[in-house]
Parts: sequence; C-alpha cells; structure tokens
Amino acid sequence: MQLESAKKSLYEQLGGEPAVNAAVDLFYKKVLNDERINHFFTHTDMDKLINKQKEFMTYAFGGHSRYEGQSLRMAHKDLDLIEDDFNAVAECLNDTLEELNVPIQLQAEVMTIVGSTKADILNM
Ligand code: HEM
Repeated sequence: MQLESAKKSLYEQLGGEPAVNAAVDLFYKKVLNDERINHFFTHTDMDKLINKQKEFMTYAFGGHSRYEGQSLRMAHKDLDLIEDDFNAVAECLNDTLEELNVPIQLQAEVMTIVGSTKADILNM
C-alpha cells in the first residue's frame, strides 16, 4: 500500500488550482512592482501571460500531463535575459511563496523546478 503523501503531486500538495492561481497572481504583482525587471513586461498582455503561467506551473508541478504554450526557450529567446534578471524573478516567486505561507519543503520543491528552467530562459 502506498502512503497517502507519496501519491500526491506537488500541485495537489500546494492546494491545487486555487492555490496555484493565487500564487501566480501575487507573483506577477511583485514582478510588475520590481524596478529591476518590470521593463521587460511593458508591451506584454499580462492577463494572457498570467493564464499561460498558470498553465505552465500546473504542468510543471504535476497537475496536468501536457503544456500547450510555447517552449520556454522560444518564449524568452529575444529578451536577452541575464542571470540577474532570472534571479530577480526567482526572488519574486520565493517572496510570494513565503507570503502565502507555503511550507518550506514545498517552497524548496517549487524553487528547484523553476530553477531547472534557467538554461532555457537564459538561452544558454
Ligand atoms: C524563472 C523562470 C521563468 C518561467 C517558468 C517563465 C515562464 C513563462 C511562460 C510560461 C511564458 C508564456 C510563454 C508563452 O507565450 O506561451 C513566459 C513569457 C514571458 N516571460 Fe517568462 N518565465 C521565467 C522567467 C522570466 C524572466 C527572468 C523574465 C524577465 C525578467 C521573463 C519575462 C517574460 C516575458 C516578458 C514574457 C512574455 C513575452 C510576451 O509579451 O509574449 N520570464 N514566461
């Protein structure tokens, strides 16, 4: 018999759709308030982006088995991002998880998954 906790995806452990939606909304509020990086989003349709990010995170955390958005590499390749940009976005996400009282172990899992996208985001 499998333990209950072993069966649950990270997505479910975070609290499923309402929790991931709330986190993505708060995350982009922080990104848009962050003078280091908000200039990247001047011409972005934020409602669309927020929806795509919800889709992506749902997939990345094991909520869906498919992601139908653009590849992260393609989506970021013309932005000329550097490591400081990536770190600033990661910090916004970390602050979001902290503010929403996500348990520390789950925060670590989220940050590991998001950290694993770095080479694609920075087009390395
Ligand atoms: C930290 C990991 C990151 C993840 C997981 C991520 C995820 C995404 C996703 C899922 C999209 C939508 C792709 C699509 O159109 O289908 C997107 C678009 C975008 N991302 Fe990221 N991103 C990350 C880092 C960054 C960073 C560091 C920046 C800049 C500081 C950035 C700026 C943008 C912008 C400006 C767009 C939208 C471009 C447009 O207007 O269409 N992203 N990102």
